[in-house]
Amino acid sequence: MKVLIYSAKAFEIPFLEKANRNKHQIKFIEDRLNSKTAVKAVGYDAVSIFSADEACFLTIEKLKEFGIKYIALRSVGYDNVNLNAASRLGIKVANVPDYSPFAISEHAVSLILTLNRKIVESNERVKRYNFNLDGLVGVDLNGKTIGIIGTGRIGSVMAKIMNGFGCKLLGYDLSEDQNLIEKYQLEYTSLTNLCERSDIITIHVPLNSDTHYLLNEDLLSLMKSNVIIINTARGAIIKTEDVIDALKNNNIGALGIDVYENERGVFFKDRSQEVPDELMLMQLNAYPNVLITGHHAYLTHEALTRIAEMTFYNLNQWEKGIVSENELTDTSD
Ligand code: COI
Repeated sequence: MKVLIYSAKAFEIPFLEKANRNKHQIKFIEDRLNSKTAVKAVGYDAVSIFSADEACFLTIEKLKEFGIKYIALRSVGYDNVNLNAASRLGIKVANVPDYSPFAISEHAVSLILTLNRKIVESNERVKRYNFNLDGLVGVDLNGKTIGIIGTGRIGSVMAKIMNGFGCKLLGYDLSEDQNLIEKYQLEYTSLTNLCERSDIITIHVPLNSDTHYLLNEDLLSLMKSNVIIINTARGAIIKTEDVIDALKNNNIGALGIDVYENERGVFFKDRSQEVPDELMLMQLNAYPNVLITGHHAYLTHEALTRIAEMTFYNLNQWEKGIVSENELTDTSD
């Protein structure tokens, strides 16, 4: 089939080309999918999109009008796709549900370690030939309590790693994983209790109407004043405005994020020659105890390989008229 690959990045193209063993006619474009760029899909059977693309109602209507039958996501998250519109218009959508929980959780751990041991500041000092150690004191992770919000694929790898550090594990999820309780003595608790007791809080839930602004002023006010908050999931799970207030008032210890509430249209591009206008991001950047990476937790060789393989697996299944097990169903009704 003919596939238009939106938001294609140079680093992922070789992985995608290699995975295209069934020789679909593919075209890579840098443009993000939105209601304006949907017209580029005229003449194609399928589009492949990424987290920065906007498959909103209007975009999906246009894709339908232009003959698109399939949307193959190159991500696990699908909060950028209006599944209700896709299902009503008969467009099939599939994601890549399990490309590498290690990539994401290892990145979350690197944010924790970097913030706790003040690695960025230490390195900057050394580069300036300043070997003063004042202000670089961290804590042992051993014996500390980590609260894992979402104990699915990524959260459970996080549990395994942090158990290795000697941390006490708290978990919050709608369903409990018995394996984590038995293997790592993870204790499931309420979200409020997790927020009250944790020294580190790490988020591993998808963004949906239940998790939007899940961490807001109310929960932030319960946390320990030295808590380290980590978000590698989706920006809007934290209400950024409220976390900025908490930072301002010294109510939290540190914040490490790979995702940001308003990242769509900002991240994934070199904007170093532009005048920055994302105000909350600029405010966050001003804090020495805030560490931001540009949504690159997934960037490992293994994850990129599997994303490419699974994207083409979904397309191959559709071409054969088979329902892919990664097909997403709309549960909004
Ligand atoms: C996801 O998989 O949902 C990510 O956030 C990583 C990236 C492939 C967009």
